[in-house]
Amino acid sequence: MKRPVAYIAGTGRGIPVKTMTNDDFAKLGLETSDSWIVERTGIQQRHIGSPEETVTHMSLLAAKRAMAKAGVTAGELDTIIVGTASPDHLLPSTAVEVQAGLGATRAAAFDIGAACSGYLYGITVGESMMQAGTAETVLVIGAEKLSSIVNWKDRSTAVLFGDGAGACVLRRARGGKGILSTYLRSDGNLAKLLWRPAGGAAIPATEQNIADGTFFVQMAGREVFKHAVRSMSEAYDRALDGAKLTSDDVDLIIPHQANLRIIEATAKHAGVGMDRVFVNVNKYGNTSAASIAIALDEAIEQGRVKDGATVVLVAFGAGFTWASIVLRF
Ligand code: UT7
Repeated sequence: MKRPVAYIAGTGRGIPVKTMTNDDFAKLGLETSDSWIVERTGIQQRHIGSPEETVTHMSLLAAKRAMAKAGVTAGELDTIIVGTASPDHLLPSTAVEVQAGLGATRAAAFDIGAACSGYLYGITVGESMMQAGTAETVLVIGAEKLSSIVNWKDRSTAVLFGDGAGACVLRRARGGKGILSTYLRSDGNLAKLLWRPAGGAAIPATEQNIADGTFFVQMAGREVFKHAVRSMSEAYDRALDGAKLTSDDVDLIIPHQANLRIIEATAKHAGVGMDRVFVNVNKYGNTSAASIAIALDEAIEQGRVKDGATVVLVAFGAGFTWASIVLRF
């Protein structure tokens, strides 16, 4: 494919108002501490949505900000893609709720289930539709309300996750700015290392599986950690190969924000100092599909993405899925 086909014309985020500190978990009776959470993960706080701050609500906030920055109206959108592992309803998609909320009457709308890689999968699918000529103006959202699907009695997962949404608008590239390469992979043999055993059609929700925790997210943390470092390193290399670039050309890496130690290991593999890596896991925890979407919006807002900058997005999540994108701004 002759690139760039698409560029990111605007970004936005929608973040719940309430924050929860590490010390707040002790108040809930969990046997954990601020020092354990900070040392092992780098997380200092996370945002937790109220009942009104649904995935759709946060998505609409993020989308409206991204659309305002891109100068795009709801009527101009032809495609809405939402990456989420915590949709407001299992049927229909969150994307159609966003479509209705925006009044995007010309748009197709669908969700993508690729967990923490969902935002990069969504951008890649949107770009491919633009390449095929079936889309011109695409809204891509990564949004999660993980507080609704974690087991608040399980310290090994409860402390890690947070809620939020991020969005971008893709428009047709003019000149050399935009998406230079993409890379998507998966390995479903490892699905059970990070999953929700019950609550889907195979094992519908019951009082029993809510009580025994199988309704909620379960993770073999140490195993997932190893795969995350390996796969994000591979994805970083492949995306740069695809763009015919090296780490010397990279101005900023925006990795999935799950754990500061995973981010540092990925940066070390890349041979890139932490001054060229964006980190906000301390403020948000792991927001899965929203993580890179929020981080990209913050990085732009903080002036860390200069005109002409080369930025690498790199994700890893349940599935497993992993993905990367090289962008020129
Ligand atoms: O977004 C998708 C991808 N997800 C990830 O990338 C997450 C990957 N995994 C991780 O980030 C890390 O593995 C964790 C942060 C989940 C865990 O860190 P770890 O250094 O791998 O710790 P561990 O699971 O090996 O646990 C070490 C100890 C255990 O106690 P013992 O067996 O050594 O006595 C745990 O029971 O820490 C204990 N532990 C806790 N202690 C205090 C686990 N969770 C907690 C906690 N507070 N919240």
